[in-house]
This record gives sequence, structure tokens and C-alpha cells, in this order.
Amino acid sequence: MLLRVRRGWEIPESRVTPEPLYWNRRRLLGAMGTVPALAASPALAASPALAMGVRRVQPAVPESDIAADRYPAARNPRYRLDRPLTDRELATTYNNFYEFGSYKQIWKAAQELKLRPWTVTIDGLVERERVLDAEDLIRRMPLEERVYRLRCVEAWSIAVPWTGFPLRALVELARPLSGAKYLRMETFLDPDMAPGQRASWYPWPYVEGLTLAEATHELAFIATGIYGRPLPRQNGAPLRLAVPWKYGFKSIKSIVRFTFTADRPDTFWSTIAPQEYGFWANVNPEVPHPRWSQRDERPLGRSGRVPTLLFNGYGEFVAGLYEGLADEPLFM
Ligand code: MTE
Repeated sequence: MLLRVRRGWEIPESRVTPEPLYWNRRRLLGAMGTVPALAASPALAASPALAMGVRRVQPAVPESDIAADRYPAARNPRYRLDRPLTDRELATTYNNFYEFGSYKQIWKAAQELKLRPWTVTIDGLVERERVLDAEDLIRRMPLEERVYRLRCVEAWSIAVPWTGFPLRALVELARPLSGAKYLRMETFLDPDMAPGQRASWYPWPYVEGLTLAEATHELAFIATGIYGRPLPRQNGAPLRLAVPWKYGFKSIKSIVRFTFTADRPDTFWSTIAPQEYGFWANVNPEVPHPRWSQRDERPLGRSGRVPTLLFNGYGEFVAGLYEGLADEPLFM
């Protein structure tokens, strides 16, 4: 299904509305009684202004309290950044979380996300299917901090300290059978709680997938915290994926199910627009999105743009994963 209405994160940065203009238009349209329709309007849907430092919307952003006594965790020094960390306030107030809306300031709406009870199902081709309480799962995992970059397909980027555990540890816990080739991950489904899920043109719930080789790669990480504290809801509490060599839409938030499969799973965005968003989605500045260049990016909180790097700068770690797959669309 290809929708003609563009999602907020599909809008080239050059076409989004500066925030003061955005807010003025919102006030005007609000007075006209038309604000609810804005989410579907590309010109009004997103704002780069937090990054421009124009105006910040800002009470403190609440975080979850799940296993809070496990934070901060020791930083793993193996992973380094080539740039400064993004300001915490920016990384926690400029988000994509379509379950709560298709605009960037969904952090307020996302406070509706109920984190207790939260169970995580592990099923499919595994020795024994099981359902775990999220807090128990987090407590039994070896938590560490890693500084990673995240490059959104929209061409903005952040660099943040995640806390969490290697996805490989969860795969080992799950004990997949020999026929398992892929790991399918699924976000919660609750349209009463998450109004974005009432939009019937999206194939809810949000689903993502990795090959088992990718899922067991040392860089594939399940984040449960950020900036030394448990994740705030808008960043995907209580647990989300972080695969820094791929476009950000692969890093699925608020996961409730891990399913081991023999066949490649259909994913949320590749179902909506297969010619624009693929299964692999590895970052490559030489391969443009069909509607905009991927050559450079805008780090949140900095003025100007920086060149985008092949595999988002993680090529030395991951290039080997894709040997023999030259016929696959690895970069979309
Ligand atoms: N996961 C879910 N469930 N829903 C989403 O809308 N958006 C994705 C990804 N994970 C998304 C999601 C996209 S497009 C990006 S760029 C990242 O989350 C953004 O993560 P952040 O908001 O923590 O920076």
C-alpha cells in the first residue's frame, strides 16, 4: 500500500517549517478549528527548530522508573563517537513515535504510554516459548552504557549514551532452533492509549526485523536507558532496539514481542512504501532516497550539516555481514 500522504519523517529538512512559523500557524489554525488535521499536512507536520535553538518547549521530561536502581551502568569504552553527544533535552524532545502522532514533539503525548504491566513474549522457532516481565528481563541482563550515533532516514542525527544489553544476550536466552533465520520485533498495540494507532492507513503494530546474523552482531543493542537513566517513554521505554549502522526506522521502540522465523518478516515501513523503505536500510550516502539526497545530515543541536558516512561510520564492524549479498537492496 502506497500512501500519498507523506509521513513527517519523510519530509526533506529543507521543506519543513521553522518552529516560530509553525507555532504561529498552529495558533491561527487552532483559532480556525482546524488543528486536528495538521498531522497529515506535510508543510506543518515537523519542525527543525529545537535543533536551531530557536525555542524550547520545556518542563523536565519524565523518564520511566523501571529497574531505576540499575542506572547508571559502566560505559563500554569499545564504542567511540566522532562528534559531541547530543544535548539530552533535544534527544528526548525531538522524536519519531508514530503511535503517538506524526509530528516531532510527541514527547508530551507519549506520556500516556503505560509501562506496567509490560510483558515481552519470545516465540516462534525457539526451544521454549515464554513470556517475561520487562523489568525482570532487564534485571537479568548485563547492563552497560554505549555511545552510539543514530541517523534518521529524514537526514537528522543524534549521538547518545544508551544503556542496555547486547541483543545477542536475548537471542541466547531464547535459544533459537536451527531453522530460525530472522528475528521479528513488534511494538505494543493499544489504539485507546496511543492515538496514532487509530490511523487505519498504517499497518499497526510497528514491526521491524533483522537477520539472525545481524541480531547477534556485537553492535545490535537493546536500549533500556539513555543518559544514565531509564528510557523516557518517547524514546521507546521500556526497551527498544539500537542498530546504529542502519537508518533510524529500524530501531523499533517499546517492544513487546521477539519472534524467531524462517522467513523474512514484513516490516512496517516496507509494507507502506516498499520502493522507498526496505528491509535492510543500511546507511549509505551514495544511495539517495527516491525523493532526497542522503549525502549529509543535520546533527540536532548543531548548526549546519556534516557528511553522512557509509554504514553511519560503523563499516569496520559490519561490512562483513553483507558479503555475498550484493544482489540485495542493502541500502534502502
Ligand atoms: N518505533 C516505533 N514503534 N514507532 C516509531 O514511529 N520511529 C522510528 C524509530 N523507532 C518509530 C520507532 C524512527 S523513524 C526513528 S528515526 C527512531 O525511532 C527515532 O528514535 P528517537 O525518537 O529515540 O530518536
